Amino acid sequence: MARVLVVYATRTNSTQEIAELVAEGIRFSGNEAVVVDVKETKNAADLEGYDGYAFGSPTYHGEMLQSMKTMLFLAEKVNLEGKVGGAFGAHGWSTEAQDRIYNTMKEIFKMDMTRGPLLLKSASLGGGVQMAHDYGKEIGSKLNP
Ligand SMILES: Cc1cc2nc3c(=O)[nH]c(=O)nc-3n(C[C@H](O)[C@H](O)[C@H](O)COP(=O)(O)O)c2cc1C
Repeated sequence: MARVLVVYATRTNSTQEIAELVAEGIRFSGNEAVVVDVKETKNAADLEGYDGYAFGSPTYHGEMLQSMKTMLFLAEKVNLEGKVGGAFGAHGWSTEAQDRIYNTMKEIFKMDMTRGPLLLKSASLGGGVQMAHDYGKEIGSKLNP
């Protein structure tokens, strides 16, 4: 069984809800998922030892939250090359945070990414629960091809 670390940043909890649903999808695929608030990631060691990673932040003012930027600098110190990765987060009308997290994981960390970030306005709108579950399952199927 592979282990996936799901780290989320949030202001008003929508991204936390999406994180929990992605984790459920990972578990549905027979893998373990650990969900962590970005504020609990203080050291590189907090990020080490997983087979896959999903990082999420909402978009505010066209950006990811500062706490997620800080965590990505921490993640730079961990060797994530070749590990399975996904990105997610709530948004209102634009998806800069989700796109930038995804691109950082792909281009800088050289991770084995899903086919794109999960772009949801919230977990409860427009089939969000199903889409978040499916995204988790997609991460799971990359871990167990
Ligand atoms: C002050 C403010 C600025 C925002 N800026 C953006 C933005 O630039 N692009 C966007 O798509 N949504 C924007 N939003 C909407 C949030 O991304 C949306 O409410 C999201 O669900 C919040 O997620 P969270 O509950 O995980 O914090 C903004 C919301 C607020 C209150």
